[in-house]
Amino acid sequence: MDDLRDKYIDLIADAADEAGLEDIRVAAVGKKGEVALKMRELGKMTPEERQVAGPALNALKDEINSALTAKKAALADAALDARLRSEWLDVTLPTRPQRRGTIHPISQVTEEVTAIFAEMGFSVAEGPRIDTDWYNFDALNIPGHHPARAEMDTFYMHRADGDNRPPHVLRTHTSPVQIRSMEATGAPTRIICPGGVYRADYDQTHTPMFHQVEGLAIDRDISMANLKWVLEEFVKSYFEVDGVDLRFRASHFPFTEPSAEVDIRCSWEGGTLKVGEGDDWLEILGSGMVHPKVLEAGGIDPAEWQGFAFGMGIDRIAMLKYGVPDLRAFFDSDLRWLRHYGFAALDVPTLHGGLSR
Ligand code: DAH
Repeated sequence: MDDLRDKYIDLIADAADEAGLEDIRVAAVGKKGEVALKMRELGKMTPEERQVAGPALNALKDEINSALTAKKAALADAALDARLRSEWLDVTLPTRPQRRGTIHPISQVTEEVTAIFAEMGFSVAEGPRIDTDWYNFDALNIPGHHPARAEMDTFYMHRADGDNRPPHVLRTHTSPVQIRSMEATGAPTRIICPGGVYRADYDQTHTPMFHQVEGLAIDRDISMANLKWVLEEFVKSYFEVDGVDLRFRASHFPFTEPSAEVDIRCSWEGGTLKVGEGDDWLEILGSGMVHPKVLEAGGIDPAEWQGFAFGMGIDRIAMLKYGVPDLRAFFDSDLRWLRHYGFAALDVPTLHGGLSR
């Protein structure tokens, strides 16, 4: 029994891991282990022999079991120590420099514009970029023969041979969303719609895809005075200046009557744009009172309701505010350009927190 004891106590002491220890346990005190086999021999002994051997075997079993338990705990401690050693890290090290993505100026400006108009009670509406020519033209009082259709360099979608329905178009402006939101909510309403628009045009200030923001406010007694105030507030907030001078120039759009193009006073002195001072004027948007036919197309009674609308180029006001000389660069996906003109991802523009900082 002493041999058995010494053998297992040594084996346990030398066990390298828990799996090895378990093998030893099975071999020693498992159901068919050596100690169990010895216990079976008790049956063949005389009662006197049994009285000595029985307690001795039980004591041996207990001793091996406690050695196993102690060794198991020691192995677990050692494993934890090893793990703590290998997973050690120096939390005082500086962080690695990281290449961070940036918010594209178009997205940034869209957020800025949205924040400003949200403050004035405008919600954001959306419409499809592929639309019918009814929404893009007819409903906006631009009938088939109207020269505005040709001027807009429209992209027409191809129809299958024999399909004679009028083609879909890539929307040439965000104005069709006026009709869609009138249909959706009726009057009164106050929405802006920022989004992508398309025209077949390409030079330093034109790209085939660009962005506009449409504005629409309809109520019983909305006038040009409201339009003027809203636009002045917008321009002041957007360009982050205290005073602006707006000039309303009589113009013509089929979907507004009267119509006005709006210019802001600015100076180009020293090659940089300053808004609110100087003797130059910069056109930034088209606007007017919504034409009765447009209200009707949107299902709103022009005898009861009236309102103003405006349309502004997002890319254009982004170029002006952030000094981007060539519109095409917006869509080149040049990483160096994006890092230079991009905005920090977590700087969400708000009126109280600052638009662009
Ligand atoms: N849709 C016009 C364009 O793309 C811009 C515009 C002008 C929108 C006057 C309006 C508006 O809502 O009233 O050039």
